[in-house]
Amino acid sequence: MAPETGPWQHRTVTTETRRYVEPGEPEPAVPLLGGDVTEGLVRVGDTVRRPVSDTSERVRRLLDFLHSAGFEGAPRFLGIDGSGRDTLSFVPGDTAGRPWPSWVAEESSAAGVARLVRAYDDTVQPLGVPEWAAAVDAADPPGCPPSVAGPPTFLAHMDITPENVVFRNGAGVALIDFDLMRPATRAEEVANLLLWWGAWMPVADREPVMREVDAASRAALLVDAYGLGPADRAKIVGVARNAADRSWHLMRHRALTRGGGWKRMWDEGIGDKILRRQAWLAENATVLHAALA
Ligand SMILES: Nc1ncnc2c1ncn2[C@@H]1O[C@H](COP(=O)(O)OP(=O)(O)O)[C@@H](O)[C@H]1O
Ligand SMILES: [Mg+2]
Repeated sequence: MAPETGPWQHRTVTTETRRYVEPGEPEPAVPLLGGDVTEGLVRVGDTVRRPVSDTSERVRRLLDFLHSAGFEGAPRFLGIDGSGRDTLSFVPGDTAGRPWPSWVAEESSAAGVARLVRAYDDTVQPLGVPEWAAAVDAADPPGCPPSVAGPPTFLAHMDITPENVVFRNGAGVALIDFDLMRPATRAEEVANLLLWWGAWMPVADREPVMREVDAASRAALLVDAYGLGPADRAKIVGVARNAADRSWHLMRHRALTRGGGWKRMWDEGIGDKILRRQAWLAENATVLHAALA
């Protein structure tokens, strides 16, 4: 479907006006602790309640689009509850907590996530880069190297951690947590997939279950399962290295300007971890590049 014919282009009121009507007396709120960043996230019955943030409106619109496109691998946006929180459908299944369970390291899990991400990317591709999804951090922080990824082509998820994928019966069935969704390229999306599901980081910085994973052969498996084209395969290592360089600046900037979980992660040493990843990518660039060719 061409983007100009979709209902999301004709929306004249924002999603902020959509109310969530409780189906009955609300069930007790159960805190959801899997993530690093979102405070106040709770499950209530078969819904999730998220405090409104500066990313809420774009995430609501994206979830609306995914629903209208018939994509089932994401929560639905159901409206705003009586306490002003975003209400999303709870996707039943398992997400990885820390330490990650052993199934995260299995080839079949990785391949399934790659296919899920491909399905998501293909679903949102027709939306292109809508004006409402302009980056939240509009300008790069000072000192941040420019992106080498080229012009964005679609709204990529860009945070495909095991905590952000719901599994059922050993297969990744849904992506959650679209807070870092942004206009990007396929190569950037797949570089993010490789970081988490391909263990593209030094062995000492990996979750224990990922220590035995061979980053080069796992990368080949992931890009094959995703079905990445040859031109993007050739770009991946350069894009991953640039993403690591940029990520150090962006994470520090978020820690300074947004605080909360971002500041906590920075204080816990994520900046140094990113520097070690940069060094690891430099050392392994040739081997990784060859594995993807
Ligand atoms: N819609 C949902 N369906 C099922 N589980 C969810 C949903 N939203 C959040 N969760 C659970 O809560 C955890 C944290 O949520 P997430 O949106 O990833 O927050 P954070 O921004 O803190 O990472 C997830 O890892 C998952 O276990
Ligand atoms: Mg998360």
